[in-house]
Amino acid sequence: MEVLEGLKDVVVCESEISRIVIENGEAVLEYRGYNIHDLAKHSTYEEVAYLLLYGELPSKSELELFSEELKERRELPPQVIGLLSSLSPFSHPMVALRTSVSYLGTLDKYIHHIDEEKSLEKAKNLIAKLPTIVAYFHRIRTGQKLIHPNDELDHAENFLYMLHGEIPNEVESRALDVDLILHADHELNASTFAARVAASTLADMYACVVAATGTLMGPLHGGASQKVMEMLREVAVPWRAESYVKEKLERGERIMGFGHRVYKKVIDPRTIELKTLAKKLAELKDPRWYKISEAIEEAVRKYKGLLPNVDFYSASVYANLGIPDDMFICIFALGRIAGWTAHIIEQYKDNTLIRPRAKYVGPIRRKYIPIEERG
Ligand code: CMC
Repeated sequence: MEVLEGLKDVVVCESEISRIVIENGEAVLEYRGYNIHDLAKHSTYEEVAYLLLYGELPSKSELELFSEELKERRELPPQVIGLLSSLSPFSHPMVALRTSVSYLGTLDKYIHHIDEEKSLEKAKNLIAKLPTIVAYFHRIRTGQKLIHPNDELDHAENFLYMLHGEIPNEVESRALDVDLILHADHELNASTFAARVAASTLADMYACVVAATGTLMGPLHGGASQKVMEMLREVAVPWRAESYVKEKLERGERIMGFGHRVYKKVIDPRTIELKTLAKKLAELKDPRWYKISEAIEEAVRKYKGLLPNVDFYSASVYANLGIPDDMFICIFALGRIAGWTAHIIEQYKDNTLIRPRAKYVGPIRRKYIPIEERG
């Protein structure tokens, strides 16, 4: 039995959702055939979520209807607000999010319906409610009054409003909008794979999303951005970046926000967009984080030849949007929920149980010794 550690480069399913390909020395990422740079430039998160779920860009009226449907679904049932209030204020926001997703499942009488129509309903519900869960939990844990969703505001704008209690300016809301687009899908990343494994057992959509949120949380996946921020705070000034990186690498430690399973020698196209966003916000707000990030990028390139990944510049974007460090992973989830749900629906439609094998390397054919006779 050949062991394919970490399923590196193993293709486990066909998918029509996103494509990553290296062409002429450049990495290309497309959602349903549309280049990520075009989507980041021209689209909105609502439009991208529609594209991922339905496979086509919406017409003007389809987008209006979809955006309305999301707005109608933003508010949380009182039971979920009660749950958020009962959690320890020291809970990690991502744990609060994952617990709330599971709880939402208890309130859905169609929880076990996995047909496309009901699945799309659940997907829209989750896309709309996740930002409210994250914002409400933060307001509750910091003893602040809840700011209810505002129907006048778009998806990203409304999240920042519910979090901070102030309507964000255009640069801030567009920065988050683009960030959510960039995080919306990424082929078979670990959390999407976890969602598809759960879906392949025909588990309900909430169970699949809980599996995905749990998987996203790890520092080798979405948890990296919070670790990047810890690093930026530790480095504190750009001139310390080089010695920090050098010493860390000499100790054999990893630099968070660098390296990728798919993008090895080429830059992740999302990193290019996020770096531009981080720079733009740095010009308007605190320039520190971007400057330290640039110095770290240069040092990691020099001493290890690694490129920054999607989590690296996300950290300075989030810091300048006033998002607390421990909520960075949640922002990743607010974007990725569109991709997760699209993949779950795709898995349900043409399902084969995902059940690989393991090569057993433990002891074999041992003689059972009754407990009284064991030394
Ligand atoms: N810092 C230092 N060395 C690294 C790093 C890093 N961040 N990433 C990879 N390497 C080295 C690694 O030590 C190994 O070197 P050698 O061949 O000398 O032993 C080589 O690069 C290949 O690494 P790998 O672990 O075999 O690669 P992988 O494809 O299994 O891992 C990764 C990919 C993302 C887990 C890894 O690059 C990593 O741990 N990065 C830091 C965590 C991080 O930023 N995660 C976010 C990933 S991107 C967004 C997402 O999916 O959430």
